[in-house]
Amino acid sequence: MLKNKKFLNKITLGDALKILLELEDNSVDIVLTDPPYFLDKLDNNWNYQKVNNRKNTWIVKSLPAGMKFDKQQGMAFYDWYSKVADRIFRVLKPGGFFSFSSPRLYHRMASAVDDAGFNIRDCLMWLYTQNQAKAMGLNHFIKKRNISKEAKNDLIQKLDGWKTPQLKSCFEPIMMAQKPAEKTFLENMINYEVGLININAKTGDNMFPSNVLATEKINNILDRCFLVAKPKKDEKGFFNDHQTVKPLSLCEHLLRLTSFSKNSVVLDPFLGSGTTAVAAKKLGLNYIGIDINQEYTRIAEQRLADIEADANIFEKGKEQNFTLLKQSNIFGLMPCYSKV
Ligand SMILES: C[S@@+](CC[C@H](N)C(=O)[O-])C[C@H]1O[C@@H](n2cnc3c(N)ncnc32)[C@H](O)[C@@H]1O
Repeated sequence: MLKNKKFLNKITLGDALKILLELEDNSVDIVLTDPPYFLDKLDNNWNYQKVNNRKNTWIVKSLPAGMKFDKQQGMAFYDWYSKVADRIFRVLKPGGFFSFSSPRLYHRMASAVDDAGFNIRDCLMWLYTQNQAKAMGLNHFIKKRNISKEAKNDLIQKLDGWKTPQLKSCFEPIMMAQKPAEKTFLENMINYEVGLININAKTGDNMFPSNVLATEKINNILDRCFLVAKPKKDEKGFFNDHQTVKPLSLCEHLLRLTSFSKNSVVLDPFLGSGTTAVAAKKLGLNYIGIDINQEYTRIAEQRLADIEADANIFEKGKEQNFTLLKQSNIFGLMPCYSKV
């Protein structure tokens, strides 16, 4: 019997740390989430108005959003995510846990999850080419120095082409962690129907699933190996003003990779505009979504309602998922797995 009736296939408005306490033990198959990055305003006090206010894009004088370096950010992220990971550990079956992060603070997130008792199984890299470079030139500061005009010009010339140490960010790390299997992977799969990966969740040109993923075409070799479907133009919904919407195809791929049972329950405690729930629903899985901002829970509900309206897409997704599950013949693979 499915647990967590109050939360199942619903989006709950509230603080994830509190709501997680209300979920039953061992009741969730997969956690797929994209928590706050803990850069600037994007933290556990994420506020819709402040994040969406364009005037706030430059939050520190002359520093673009996201570029304020502060050791406290990583420490606060570690402390907060340790609590989140602890609470997820209790509600998750020995199974799968994916969490997006930023390259800058990934290490804090992965350490928090590791220290909460999970096994860090891998780090996936979501690769992209389009992003804004954030490194800054220093001419502005040179001009303010109390030196002669000639000295300023000399320095500007000398430092031509040199900027603050920020490379263009072209990947997002995705942690793949697992609550340790009970006994062996085989016993665990028989008891909980979760904990192995589905190698029929192919990428590119029918390739074995790897830890590099792309959702845009880059070049032939990369596309042949790593491409999952490109996001559809309208998949976000024209009404969606969330700043960090993930591609649906990426979330669907991660769920295909790990969901075995058609009754699987997918939890996203930081649902934002609902991409995880939409992906789960399209695949015919159950979801539990939580977000602290009502503006986003409303957007997520609208996106889910749109899928409902388009029954064709839903049915197609379901069929596709069951075909994949059938094809996966996961028990045939068992001899390859032993507890490591
Ligand atoms: C990176 S966004 C998720 C975006 C999502 N992947 C999407 O595709 O729309 C993180 C979300 O966490 C939410 N959030 C921040 N602190 C929270 C908390 N304490 N409890 C629940 N949600 C929180 C924010 O409102 C934000 O929507």
